[in-house]
Amino acid sequence: EAIEKGGYEHFMLKEINEQPRSIADCMRGRLDAKNGRLVLGGLRDYMNKFQNADRIIITACGTSWHAGLVAEYLFEEFARIPVEVEYASEFRYRNPVISDKDFVIAISQSGETADTLAAIELAKSKGATIFGVCNVVGSSIARATHAGCYTHAGPEIGVASTKAFTAQISVLTMMALMLGYQRGTLTESKYIQLLNELEGIPSKVEKALTMNNNIEKIAAIYKDSRNFLYLGRGYNFPVALEGALKLKEISYIHAEGYPAAEMKHGPIALIDEEMPVVFIATKDTSYEKVVSNIQEVKARKGKIIAVVTEGDIVVRGMADHVLEIPETAEAFVPLLSVIPLQQLSYHIAVMRGCNVDQPRNLAKSVTVE
Ligand code: AGP
Repeated sequence: EAIEKGGYEHFMLKEINEQPRSIADCMRGRLDAKNGRLVLGGLRDYMNKFQNADRIIITACGTSWHAGLVAEYLFEEFARIPVEVEYASEFRYRNPVISDKDFVIAISQSGETADTLAAIELAKSKGATIFGVCNVVGSSIARATHAGCYTHAGPEIGVASTKAFTAQISVLTMMALMLGYQRGTLTESKYIQLLNELEGIPSKVEKALTMNNNIEKIAAIYKDSRNFLYLGRGYNFPVALEGALKLKEISYIHAEGYPAAEMKHGPIALIDEEMPVVFIATKDTSYEKVVSNIQEVKARKGKIIAVVTEGDIVVRGMADHVLEIPETAEAFVPLLSVIPLQQLSYHIAVMRGCNVDQPRNLAKSVTVE
């Protein structure tokens, strides 16, 4: 086992640190920015269905559902197709309206999640086209779908998903860019510019991994907190959900993720000097709005930990702690902003003496309802 951990204390830490490589593996042979090429073999026979779909329905559970939520923003921004993101466990029992003009994307690391598999069978029986985004080759979901794209992240052993999440987002990003380009909703110059930026993401993830050597110090300060709030907007809203889930799973600290603007509709009542609030406040279209959300928390004496774009001085002046990530295109920020959140949850869990790789009550794949 020590050999499998590659010198790391836990699989989770190894998998967090593997992300520059796993994302590059996911894009290898598919993305060639220099020649303006993006090829997803699994989509070849289904591009017509995808391009002409009335609606994209994304179904998944847990972290994979969070990746689906990022994809909602991606597909709507780049390809202008309406998207619905569904918890597989709800979708399968809701008698949803599905037609043969729907393109369903099922996302699953293990490819064995019972609810996701049942949601696929339901959508298939209504005539929809089902596309899988799976990590495990030959898994039940990979076999049940009409076509798909593997994430190629390599085996993920830690129960808390890390590198599978960023690989799922990488595949979904490539799908969204292809779709936007084919549909003409993304201009050629913008497409090429984004392909180039995406190709550079693994080295930016590498940088993000090494930028915050103070994460352990922050973890030591807040490891005994009873609650955490994670807030983000736009592309960073799903990242807030994912940050909160990571902390809950492995450290057993109660954490909630919210869209930052929803705070004033309830969660703001929770804020006092005991409450750490993690803001994802990168320089993007909602930056100013997030800054004013930070002010609201500060006025109520909440402790602010902010994930910011490298060089940010405004949020640095307001927050108790900042975690920097490199600058990138707004749509690609989740691939970077989730990194310090994974690291923070890991260090807090280790300091609390938790079993990081195999948290209580959880299984790596949930093959029962
Ligand atoms: C992630 O950290 C969780 N362990 C869990 O939410 C997981 O993402 C979920 O069970 C879905 O699993 P899947 O991707 O294998 O379908």
